[in-house]
Amino acid sequence: MYLTTVEEHMLQGKFGSAVQKSMQILVALGEIYDAEKMIPVSNVHMPGSSVVVAGDAGLSFVEKTAETNVPFKTYTTLNTAAIDFERWKQLGIPEAVASKQKRLTNAYLRMGAVDCHTCTPYLVGNIPRMGEHVAWGESSAIAFLNSVIGARTNREGGPSALASALTGRTPFYGLHKDENRRGKKRINVTAELRDITDYGTLGYFVGSICGTEIPVFVGMPQNPTLDQLKMLGAALASSGGVALYHIVGVTPEAKTEANAFQGEPSETLQFGPTELDKTRDKLSKATDDNVDIVCLGCPHASILEIREIAEYFNAQKVHHDIKMWICTSQPVKAMADRLGYTRIIEKAGGVVACDTCPVLAPTKEIVKILGYKTIVTNSAKLAHYATGQCNLLPHYGDAKTCLSTAVNGRWKR
Ligand code: F3S
Repeated sequence: MYLTTVEEHMLQGKFGSAVQKSMQILVALGEIYDAEKMIPVSNVHMPGSSVVVAGDAGLSFVEKTAETNVPFKTYTTLNTAAIDFERWKQLGIPEAVASKQKRLTNAYLRMGAVDCHTCTPYLVGNIPRMGEHVAWGESSAIAFLNSVIGARTNREGGPSALASALTGRTPFYGLHKDENRRGKKRINVTAELRDITDYGTLGYFVGSICGTEIPVFVGMPQNPTLDQLKMLGAALASSGGVALYHIVGVTPEAKTEANAFQGEPSETLQFGPTELDKTRDKLSKATDDNVDIVCLGCPHASILEIREIAEYFNAQKVHHDIKMWICTSQPVKAMADRLGYTRIIEKAGGVVACDTCPVLAPTKEIVKILGYKTIVTNSAKLAHYATGQCNLLPHYGDAKTCLSTAVNGRWKR
């Protein structure tokens, strides 16, 4: 693998042990994937920002790295955390988890990270330009970045993203290269997509068939919203490992079908009303109408989603037996505070939870203490992870169904 003189010096330890270890990680990764060289990056989104994911070993590694006093070379934003930094007690998060999360975040801050703690960094100021090479973690954010923005990243894990932040480099392979961004499977969409949840259902169906291959959607509406695209990518990356999708006529590398494939598709799949209904049913695992918690905002809610929820709760209250979390980032909540949406939602009995989400919080511990069994969500990604990561059985439906469930206290589609 070719290294520049500066990269060789990094590898030899001339910039200190943290940079040396980072370059060793990146060279090893590059060699596994046959990268011929490193490329510069100036933007990292850091996975492993939740102490629930990082664990004690990850916390100790990041703290030791921060102690070397080497600053990040890149603009580095932090992914979703294990706690809401202001209201972790109200959410029932144990003090031991809160204390470790604060240590992890402080270590990243010491190296120069921005602690926006969100899986939608592109909603709060981290928007690379089209074609820019970056090193991002968090599967839903990666799918949005590659597909909608047209910037380029592989699926980075905690160690490789940290290594890129400390060196300003990433190995040149995978989705950084033109030839690996061509579409593989053609998805003929004939189902009507009415809301963001239908986009998630579509993504869930396609992700489970594509694995890591790149789908190209044809027949889709030509004016999807940012929230619909956000939901599509998150679902594609949860049932499968899709990190890039194209929508003909919509996403920047798919102006035409020929443009998206640059060759022939390996297969054509159909997504019609039957596939939509079957996939929606498959995502609902709960068998009775009991509900403990309703959660919207996976990926983290935009201000438009929060506005719709606030409009719904203008004249309604959350049922006294139900908890309702709306997950978002602190900057989006600040906007919701200013616009009066938070006050409406919280007066109705909901919580606008920042920095965290049920999948990356210590939810298993919380539900054990509180005796919760069932979650209601409009997110295919959250429905997918609810059983394994949260010990909760999901009911899956559109936002209006979730909100009416929060009011009535019973699941009814
Ligand atoms: Fe974000 Fe958590 Fe969902 S990180 S995509 S809200 S599982």
